[in-house]
Amino acid sequence: MRRIVLGNWKMNLNIRQAELLASRLKANIKKPTANIVLCPNSVCLSTISNLVKSYGDSTMSVGAQNIYDKDEGPYTGEVSGAVIKGLADYCIVGHSERRVIFGESDDLIASKVAACFRNNIIPVLCVGENLKQRHEKIAKNIVIDQLEQDLSEIIAEEVKNVVVAYEPVWAIGTGENASPYDVEEMLIEIQKYLFNKYRDAIAPKVRIIYGGSVKGENAKSYLDLPQCDGLLVGGASLNYHDFSKICQLG
Ligand code: PGA
Repeated sequence: MRRIVLGNWKMNLNIRQAELLASRLKANIKKPTANIVLCPNSVCLSTISNLVKSYGDSTMSVGAQNIYDKDEGPYTGEVSGAVIKGLADYCIVGHSERRVIFGESDDLIASKVAACFRNNIIPVLCVGENLKQRHEKIAKNIVIDQLEQDLSEIIAEEVKNVVVAYEPVWAIGTGENASPYDVEEMLIEIQKYLFNKYRDAIAPKVRIIYGGSVKGENAKSYLDLPQCDGLLVGGASLNYHDFSKICQLG
C-alpha cells in the first residue's frame, strides 16, 4: 500500500491519554486504506511504540515528531535518531513549527534528514511557503529551494524512501486548508523537480503528501488528487472519529 496517513499529535496527550487514543484508533479502523503512522510526543513514544507493536498490524506504525542531528553527546534536552531507533519507523523533519518557533535552518534540517537514514528511520520532510511568500507568488521557488537544500546530505538511493509533506504554513492549525487546486499545482511542481533531479528510477518512488487543516470532511478532496500519496494530519488526528474516517477513505 502506497498511501500514508500520519497523525501528528504535537505537544498533546500524556501517556495515559496517548494509549487511550491509540487503542481507540485500533478498535475503530477496521479497513485501513493507508499505512497509518501515529506520531506521539517523545515521552509517549516508547509506550505507543510497544502498544502498536503488540497489535502486530503491518498497516499501523509509529513516528517521532523531531530528532536532533547528532547521535549522542552533550545536547541537553534533545533526543537523537540513535535513541529512538527501533521505537519509531518515521520521523517528521522540518515541520514549520520547528522552522518558525525554534528557528531551524535548512542546513540543520538537511543534517536531520541524514541522521534519520543513519538510524534506519524514514524522514517525513515538511516543506511549504508562508502567506507572504504565497502573496508574492514565490511559493514554488520557496518549496523547491527547501527541497534542494534539505535533501542535499543524502544520496539518491535514500531520496526514494523520503516522504515529502507539502504543508503551506498558512494552512497549519488555522482551519484555513489549501484548495485541492493549489495543492495539486504544488505537488506537480515537486514531482517535476524530483524527476529532473533524480530521474525515473528514484522520483516515482518518493511519496508526496499534503498537510494543513485536514479534517474528515476535506481529506478526500486531497486523496483524490492523482499526485497525492497521503496526508499529514495535526488537530484532527486527536479526534478518533475524524482520524479513523480519514484512514479508511476510498
Ligand atoms: P493541522 O496540522 O492539521 O492541525 O493543520 C498539520 C501539521 O502540523 O502537520
